[in-house]
Amino acid sequence: MSRIAYVNGRYVPKVEAVVHIEDRGYQFADAVYEVWALFDGKLADPRGHFARLERSLGELRIDLPMSQRALTAVLKETVRRNRIREGLVYLQVSRGVATRDHAFPSPAVPPAVVITVSRVDRAASEARAAKGVAVVTTPETRWGRCDIKTVGLLPNALAKQKAREVGAVEAWFVDDLGLVTEGASSNAWIVDGDGVLRTRDTNANILRGVTRLSLLDLAREAGLKVEERPFTPQEALDAREAFITGAGTLVLPVVKVDGKPVGDGAPGPVAARLRRLYIERAKATAV
Ligand code: PDD
Repeated sequence: MSRIAYVNGRYVPKVEAVVHIEDRGYQFADAVYEVWALFDGKLADPRGHFARLERSLGELRIDLPMSQRALTAVLKETVRRNRIREGLVYLQVSRGVATRDHAFPSPAVPPAVVITVSRVDRAASEARAAKGVAVVTTPETRWGRCDIKTVGLLPNALAKQKAREVGAVEAWFVDDLGLVTEGASSNAWIVDGDGVLRTRDTNANILRGVTRLSLLDLAREAGLKVEERPFTPQEALDAREAFITGAGTLVLPVVKVDGKPVGDGAPGPVAARLRRLYIERAKATAV
């Protein structure tokens, strides 16, 4: 069965889905995106993702292409047509199509919208979480507005490739102060030696992960001590546990940083518990 993509108002077989060569997303990375985890055909963490989408668009002064209600309907229809129950939904909104000129088109053109859906093997993802993954560190080279979820992801792609080439699953960016900012496509966490759950604060130049935000709530509700405070790679190695979060990874234990074991080198109980709590909550609140 061919996969279906939504492209500017039409549902088309993915092999025939095309965008214009002068789409500003293609020429300038002048576009934002969102990724939802899909549980049983439903979009996880809807409020957080829609709020961030509106914020990203607002920061770039791109119009919301349609109401949130209409967008939800289109996202769900794309999911339905793909017959995928467990997976990821990708939405990209660019400033639109215009003759190449760095400044915004004037008058404004309609934003261009693309949606795709991909399948996730939940059993494989659980198996990976049970084993834990390796990360590598890499210097922070990104622009100063990583809080906006733009498709300008070249440093992230290069970092991910660096990880892949040494058998790691994620790369952690490390800033000039020697502190971990976040992963190439995830937020970074540790459970430090005192049992405190730590992740970088959002005053730093990081993406405000929707999974991160939900997990902060869940962790506090579960009575864990939580601090939005940065850590170094060495602190991650000295920690009891480390993990990453994101729509793709959910909560995924990190057992190695730059080839060295985190704590005792095995996934820990806090990450396992938070993964369970997150998935339960995401399933219960998905739309
Ligand atoms: N990435 N940090 C970065 C740089 C990311 O790209 C992502 C998500 C996250 C986690 O955010 P959230 O919890 O909202 O998924 C943090 C998505 C999944 C991607 O690029 O595919």
